[in-house]
Amino acid sequence: MKLTDSKKDQFRRLARDYGYRSRSAFKLKQINNSYRILNKGHCVVDIGCAPGGWIQVALAEVGNKGKVIGVDIKKIEPLKDAFVIQGNIEHEDIINSILKISNSHVDVVLSDLSPNVSGNWDLDHARQIDLSRNALKLCNRILKKGGKAVFKVFQGDMLNELISELKKEFKRVIITKPTASRQVSSEIYLICIDKL
Ligand SMILES: C[S@@+](CC[C@H](N)C(=O)[O-])C[C@H]1O[C@@H](n2cnc3c(N)ncnc32)[C@H](O)[C@@H]1O
Repeated sequence: MKLTDSKKDQFRRLARDYGYRSRSAFKLKQINNSYRILNKGHCVVDIGCAPGGWIQVALAEVGNKGKVIGVDIKKIEPLKDAFVIQGNIEHEDIINSILKISNSHVDVVLSDLSPNVSGNWDLDHARQIDLSRNALKLCNRILKKGGKAVFKVFQGDMLNELISELKKEFKRVIITKPTASRQVSSEIYLICIDKL
């Protein structure tokens, strides 16, 4: 068994033990432990939320005075205490639903958006960066001034341009790769602090 497979299995086992719907839940937990993105009482919008692992982590962090709104094209099994919207983040009606549920007050946007991966690095990178640009457009519509965001991105030659665009909208952008993310995977995470 390759080391990468054993790491994948380790987090899959942990996810089952902790009752998380995805291994990705541990990536958000590690990010949050390092950068304190989520706090009690926060309103969090999780885009690309299916099957719901990040929602579970966010619900635990924001507590009963907080709010978690998940959006995905895919249908997900309902999660107690979370608001889930099925639809495309690019569509105006979906943006309006988020604004309505959040009362136009969003503290944090989480984006774990992924295209259907083809295995072609350049194509998957381009599609993912395009999705991330749409996630940034959404942030510009819904995220409060001083808010935070986390973007999963695929590495490649268009990444620096996206980072420059993010730096125009946030005071600080930090690049990180949680240990729960496999080294062989091209994904990294951008932690965006203080929406301008
Ligand atoms: C890696 S999964 C998210 C996993 C999730 N963070 C978890 O912990 O369960 C990425 C998701 O992005 C969603 N997605 C891709 N493009 C989207 C779009 N334009 N609007 C909404 N969701 C989208 C996919 O349907 C997929 O479920």
